[in-house]
Amino acid sequence: MRAVVFHRHGGTEELSVEEFPEPEARAGDAILEVGATSINGFDPMIVAGSTGLKTPLPMVPCGDIAGRIVSFGPETDPGPWKIGDRVCPHPFVVGEGMTGETRLGAACERVRIPVATLLPIPDGVSDAQAASLPIAYGTAHRLMQTRGRIQAGEKVLVLGATGGVGVACLQLGKRVGAELIVAGSAEWKLERLLALGADHAIDTSKEEVVAAVHERFGKPHMLGGGGVDVVVNFIGGESWVAGLRCLGSHGRMITCGATAGYQPPTDIRFIWTYEQTILGSNGWLPADQSAVLEMVASGELAPEIHAVRPLGETAASIQELADRKVVGKFVITP
Ligand SMILES: NC(=O)c1ccc[n+]([C@@H]2O[C@H](COP(=O)([O-])OP(=O)(O)OC[C@H]3O[C@@H](n4cnc5c(N)ncnc54)[C@H](OP(=O)(O)O)[C@@H]3O)[C@@H](O)[C@H]2O)c1
Repeated sequence: MRAVVFHRHGGTEELSVEEFPEPEARAGDAILEVGATSINGFDPMIVAGSTGLKTPLPMVPCGDIAGRIVSFGPETDPGPWKIGDRVCPHPFVVGEGMTGETRLGAACERVRIPVATLLPIPDGVSDAQAASLPIAYGTAHRLMQTRGRIQAGEKVLVLGATGGVGVACLQLGKRVGAELIVAGSAEWKLERLLALGADHAIDTSKEEVVAAVHERFGKPHMLGGGGVDVVVNFIGGESWVAGLRCLGSHGRMITCGATAGYQPPTDIRFIWTYEQTILGSNGWLPADQSAVLEMVASGELAPEIHAVRPLGETAASIQELADRKVVGKFVITP
């Protein structure tokens, strides 16, 4: 079958479309024909080998999958599933890790995935929509709702808001009635986020985030007032202290990643003075993924798809994401 493969870590020039062995189903597995996959912020990191995780090589990137069951492994109880069903599996497999990270990804024609991870694609949800949901929207659902408990009326600043998780946080935050402040590095990207309902935009190519927040909402005061209630910060690096400085009294900063560095300096004075809370949110559960699939089916949520591309354009698309030229999700259709 055709697959996007890298044999060693490096830049996107290490990715090429090759003939790759067909996946072999074991007991408990299904083989899916991939209808669509999508690119996430971790894909360039996995190709570069910069996550600290051990990736077996050769590796196929991309963790999200929307596809159709074509067969089952030997002695497999298919449970409620039958050949031809459209499914969107949860990409984390117990004992094997994350699809596209420690187990072969979905930028290919067919994948092996345990039956236990399968979730149905509801009627009316396209493969491209389903493939844009698990990693970005599942993570955002857990971050904004399960862990962040974002409430109507809260001021929520999303750093890196133009990416897959960021746009999903914006959409899910608006859905519960929060006031969304989005930060991104280009005017054209922010225009798209304003069209999606963002209340305020900070162009980080022109404005410094802390100054912009203090100017719009006032400087935080320990007795209340000023700043924002929540900072969504999966960027890390230099943005970490900046995020603390944007939070008002009793504000909370929530992280699920560290695009710009996972060992940033911090400033503990802000944490005690303003009695801030730092929250971690790791990935998502099948329930989060089913929830966002249902929201799309009911028309409450439309995943923001930047472009749909063929398999041969995966490397160029991952490069565009690394170059910060994307808003929302890049979908790849093998
Ligand atoms: N814990 C988990 O299970 C989990 C799951 C999903 C994602 N994550 C993590 O969450 C983060 C976001 O994922 P994603 O898929 O949304 O990534 P993404 O699509 O690449 O979006 C990240 C956004 O951050 C900004 N950015 C990129 N590089 C930056 C840099 N060096 N400094 C500051 N800003 C930068 C970009 O926006 P602008 O150019 O507009 O600023 C970009 O749109 C990643 O770190 C990812 O690993 C974790």
